[in-house]
Amino acid sequence: MVKKKRRLNIGIFDSGFGGLDIARSIVKKLPQYNYVYLGDTARAPYGHRSQEMIHAFTRQAVRFLFQHECGIVITACNTASSEALRKIQQEYAKKHGTKKKILGVLIPAAEEAIRGTDSGRIGVIATTATVASNAFVRELTKLDPSVHVFQKACPLLVPLVEAGKQDTQETRAVLKKYLHPLLRRNIDTLILGCTHYGILEKSIRNIIGSDIKIISEAKVVPKKLEKYLKKHSDLERTLGRQSSIRFYSTGQIDTFKYLGSRLFGKALRVEKAVLR
Ligand code: DGL
Repeated sequence: MVKKKRRLNIGIFDSGFGGLDIARSIVKKLPQYNYVYLGDTARAPYGHRSQEMIHAFTRQAVRFLFQHECGIVITACNTASSEALRKIQQEYAKKHGTKKKILGVLIPAAEEAIRGTDSGRIGVIATTATVASNAFVRELTKLDPSVHVFQKACPLLVPLVEAGKQDTQETRAVLKKYLHPLLRRNIDTLILGCTHYGILEKSIRNIIGSDIKIISEAKVVPKKLEKYLKKHSDLERTLGRQSSIRFYSTGQIDTFKYLGSRLFGKALRVEKAVLR
């Protein structure tokens, strides 16, 4: 019997920098594996783009990561997970059967929210595209048809975080404007349905008070990935264990290094990626 070599990477894709927050938590929880992170910063943000475009960009990104020896790809971007993931999973399943594993971030967040809610009133904040896709509503009601889901698109938050303004008066005012309609709906659980919002968790907590549960993907996804790898031991056995991480960006390398190191928590070496 030919033994499978342990050499494959875990690929993490985001439209830009926000996924680095999730990547950091994954690497912290599972430091033994090798990672390749790809940020499509040249074309970010995805949050206001059409479904066709998000699908085309995500497909290119997933292909790039599989070409870079990834045994599993995580689309850490909510917008990509909402608008493109299912279609891409189906496309890959048709071509490769169950060999190519592509996971998203929506289902882990939805499962955690369902587990956490008492009243069944769940709020979701996300990009315009994610909200328009209704993907969170679909996943949450699939898990429990009796829940009520209230969504709020927050298009101003990603630009504010990327401008480094997460702790400013301006951002707190914008957050209040977005969160108050959800508070009026008496939600008991709030899903941060966008990569960048984890960075705003403290400010969000200050506005919504201590009674509402916050579901943050940076906390949920690493736990779910660990479980997934335990369950899929065949795949897990193919993963390399040199604790390495490579970063790729389609955009300005210097900007990625600067903003990325703030989100990832240490200096990054970044290579240029070309997606087609
Ligand atoms: N990564 C995106 C998400 O999680 C936010 C940034 C964007 O709009 O591309 O939805």
